[in-house]
Amino acid sequence: MPSVLVLGLLLPALAAASGYQLTWSETFESLDNWVLDVEPGMDSGNNEWEYYTDSSDNVFLSTDPVSGANMLVLQALAQEHLGYNYTSGKVYTKEVLGPYGFYNVRAKVPHGLGLWPAIWMLPVTENHYGTWAACGEIDLMETVCYDPNAYATLHFGGSWPNNTQTPSNGHNTFPMSINWDETHNWGFEWDLDHVQFWFDAEVVDGEIQGQNFFSINSTEWYSTNSQGIRYPGTAPFDVGFNMILNIAVGGWWPCSVAGCCENVESQMPAQMLVYWVQTYQQTPIPSFPSH
Ligand SMILES: *[C@@H]1O[C@H](CO)[C@@H](O)[C@H](O)[C@H]1NC(C)=O
Ligand SMILES: *[C@@H]1O[C@H](CO)[C@@H](O)[C@H](O)[C@H]1NC(C)=O
Ligand SMILES: *[C@@H]1O[C@H](CO)[C@@H](O)[C@H](O)[C@H]1NC(C)=O
Repeated sequence: MPSVLVLGLLLPALAAASGYQLTWSETFESLDNWVLDVEPGMDSGNNEWEYYTDSSDNVFLSTDPVSGANMLVLQALAQEHLGYNYTSGKVYTKEVLGPYGFYNVRAKVPHGLGLWPAIWMLPVTENHYGTWAACGEIDLMETVCYDPNAYATLHFGGSWPNNTQTPSNGHNTFPMSINWDETHNWGFEWDLDHVQFWFDAEVVDGEIQGQNFFSINSTEWYSTNSQGIRYPGTAPFDVGFNMILNIAVGGWWPCSVAGCCENVESQMPAQMLVYWVQTYQQTPIPSFPSH
């Protein structure tokens, strides 16, 4: 009898231990965990119009006037800089995150002419599989201009132009409508055999709760070397990636939308407000970053 009682008491705790545990909660008391990218838009490969700077005009910490919560603010400005007409902010984690686990970012995302805000992951500081997109890219959220939709995508395959993506272009639209006036949680669940995206999710007692979509089996992705030979296993999504947050201005995608790249200066300043970045792992591991 006592053993049954003990089991009954222990089972919930065991279930929680096998679920998702918070391993890193970035609440932006500092920018210590981030690199402030300095990069001309031409280097993006997307023909972007902004110059990313590490100026406090473009990347700064603030507090939400209502809740008092810390925020990272990325701000695009109509500001001349080294031959560019716009400046903006782009940051990435100093260390890679993962592989695997659950990644959730709470942000209010700007919407408007010429804007291309993104929450995404790329192996910036440790590249195992070569140039894009053999190295892989995970887009948790992108949107352009006044497009009501958000997009989530995995990019992989060979190096450009042998890259591919899933869901394929045109099918990577979030399957729910987005109220862009509100702050949302943008999530990515990364497992050994599949990944999926989450909208407005949170982890409750180790379980992810929210709206999930685009479950992608690991058999659907691959990475090839410069000879076109596939790497074994589940490359490229079997190594850590850096988290990237930015607001692009202009570029091939937004400027392919009729009218999107006109009167762009009227949208400035444009801000992305990031309240937190959380990482979870299914088994206890040392928290990132270690300090
Ligand atoms: C800046 O604006 C001028 C005038 O519209 C344009 O000619 C130039 O190409 C722009 N520069 C960049 C880098 O986009
Ligand atoms: C992925 O696809 C393989 C091959 O079709 C299948 O055996 C496996 O069960 C799938 N995994 C998931 C998580 O759906
Ligand atoms: C792309 O694939 C073709 C055909 O397999 C190959 O000849 C070419 O070298 C590849 N290019 C890159 C950049 O990997």
